[in-house]
Amino acid sequence: MKFIHFASLFSVWGIVNVSSQKHDCSSLASTQQAKNAVQILTAIEVLPGSLNLSSNTGEGSIKNKFQLCQVQGIIKYQANPRNGKVEFDVNGNDTITWELFLPDPENYNGRFLAVGNGGFAGTIDNSTMLENTNSGYAVSGCDSGHSLTDSENGIFLEDLGKTKTWIHDSIVMTTQVTRDIVAKYYARSPKYSYYSGCSTGGAQGYSLAQYHPELFDGIYAGSPGNWYSHLVLSFLWNGLHSTSGGYLSQQVLNFITDNVLAACDDIDGVKDGVIGNPLKCHFDIMTLECKQGQNLVNSSNRTLCLTSDQLQAAQAIYAGPKDSRDYKEVYPGFDLGSENAWLTQESVLYVDYTTPILQKLVFKNDNYNVSTFNWGSDIDRVDSIASPLIDAITPDLSAFNRRGGKLISTQGWADPYNAAAWPIQHLGQIQSALKNTNINNFIRLFMVPGGGHCGANPLYRQVPATYHVLDPLVRWVEKGQKPEEILSSSPPDGSNTTRKLCPWPKVARFTGGDQSNWQSYECV
Ligand SMILES: *[C@@H]1O[C@H](CO)[C@@H](O)[C@H](O)[C@H]1NC(C)=O
Ligand SMILES: *[C@@H]1O[C@H](CO)[C@@H](O)[C@H](O)[C@H]1NC(C)=O
Ligand SMILES: *[C@@H]1O[C@H](CO)[C@@H](O)[C@H](O)[C@H]1NC(C)=O
Ligand SMILES: *[C@@H]1O[C@H](CO)[C@@H](O)[C@H](O)[C@H]1NC(C)=O
Ligand SMILES: *[C@@H]1O[C@H](CO)[C@@H](O)[C@H](O)[C@H]1NC(C)=O
Ligand SMILES: *[C@@H]1O[C@H](CO)[C@@H](O)[C@H](O)[C@H]1NC(C)=O
Ligand SMILES: *[C@@H]1O[C@H](CO)[C@@H](O)[C@H](O)[C@H]1NC(C)=O
Repeated sequence: MKFIHFASLFSVWGIVNVSSQKHDCSSLASTQQAKNAVQILTAIEVLPGSLNLSSNTGEGSIKNKFQLCQVQGIIKYQANPRNGKVEFDVNGNDTITWELFLPDPENYNGRFLAVGNGGFAGTIDNSTMLENTNSGYAVSGCDSGHSLTDSENGIFLEDLGKTKTWIHDSIVMTTQVTRDIVAKYYARSPKYSYYSGCSTGGAQGYSLAQYHPELFDGIYAGSPGNWYSHLVLSFLWNGLHSTSGGYLSQQVLNFITDNVLAACDDIDGVKDGVIGNPLKCHFDIMTLECKQGQNLVNSSNRTLCLTSDQLQAAQAIYAGPKDSRDYKEVYPGFDLGSENAWLTQESVLYVDYTTPILQKLVFKNDNYNVSTFNWGSDIDRVDSIASPLIDAITPDLSAFNRRGGKLISTQGWADPYNAAAWPIQHLGQIQSALKNTNINNFIRLFMVPGGGHCGANPLYRQVPATYHVLDPLVRWVEKGQKPEEILSSSPPDGSNTTRKLCPWPKVARFTGGDQSNWQSYECV
């Protein structure tokens, strides 16, 4: 019903004098006050096709379909020294750099969208912004409150305000500022507000639902790193368990995945080089152990079996980090079929993410040696120092539910960064906390067989890697249509294969016909 109302809204706006709107774009910049914590630096009209941004997948570029008003600005902020609260502050030493794309009024769909960040951030995801502006959204994005220079080696983590702002506050403050500009530009408030982010952006999404449930009607939180403090402990665990003899080369990892696939690919009824539900796969990696006297590789240097050190490393990565005091899980482990994505766990991720978080934030010592991490008492230290600043894991999302908010998460089963089981576990925690609520009515998780981190796992080339989440989220928010399936398309192999993603714990079952067409599947 609301949707029909919208359609009539468009036609009313169709007769708005566009030339007067043109004038409004540049006038946005002139309304700013230099003494404000918020400054608009530029506001310029951009003709269709003249904004050409390289896409964030690294391939190709994207251009604006419509004329748009491009607004750029900053927010000065500071953590209040008395209570640590991040505040707008004209004298603040920290800066959020933001950007806002306003499609011309004829092509505006009446909706506001904020996009999130990735990794340690420091840049604005302007290609995702533009993609959505091309669908009619007024879209804002920010750098999460620090520059790219500050994100390198995690320098921003030395500053309390920047650390808090990164995941908890930057989207909120940017939205407060940019949504007002949207209202001003179109002379009316956006009818609905959405958020879309993945990875760190997924963490920002859960943070919005937890700390600012009033702000967004719909939230897409992909591959959520919302238990960031323990996510980086899992990086460390995996890195430290795969050194020297336990190192698993890409060839060895592929050997494991090939064997897992041989055992479990067709459990879901289709032989497609991917496991539909890894929890149904009961492959025992010990079957790959080298027998007495067996060569590790054959004469063409192909892996034939695993050493006991390699088996131990793999088992540690499947198991995930454990507290040495009581063997309790610190973070989930990785699932069968994800092995081909582990190489960065072994070497890169703990160096790039865990080391800065432990050195700059937790131990405040750049000489701190992460190999000496105590898997008992130091976990408590991480929990007390880092968690309150960078995590967003409350299971009580009742306020977000009460205001009618809807949240969709996606998670690839073969994500090189995130243990895929975390969002499943978190969903269970949310259901336990809200005992009398059917949480399916406001939060749904879509697992992606063979999926990577916010898209493709490049070694599963046949798996569609674009998840069409926003349209179903909009229909859920605006028409009350609960998403029962999500389309995925565009695999790295360039084929036209599409697949059906299902709301967990449902999985896609092949019903016959063309195996590479999503309509040949049903969620059961
Ligand atoms: C857009 O940018 C890409 C590279 O970033 C370039 O190859 C392409 O020619 C550009 N397109 C236009 C129309 O300028
Ligand atoms: C900003 O930094 C300067 C120099 O370090 C300091 O004197 C000033 O108090 C800081 N401003 C705020 C609001 O903390
Ligand atoms: C888009 O983002 C890239 C990468 O951060 C940056 O180099 C570029 O200047 C941005 N373009 C615009 C129009 O903001
Ligand atoms: C080595 O193993 C690979 C993979 O199993 C196989 O394709 C190849 O033929 C083997 N080479 C020899 C010389 O046996
Ligand atoms: C065998 O493969 C490994 C891993 O891919 C490689 O490092 C090594 O150089 C290869 N050895 C030979 C003799 O080709
Ligand atoms: C870090 O600690 C490990 C384990 O105690 C030790 O082997 C390594 O040499 C240390 N590294 C440095 C740079 O001190
Ligand atoms: C994909 O492409 C093939 C061959 O080009 C075609 O037969 C098939 O109908 C296409 N499938 C879809 C879902 O578009």
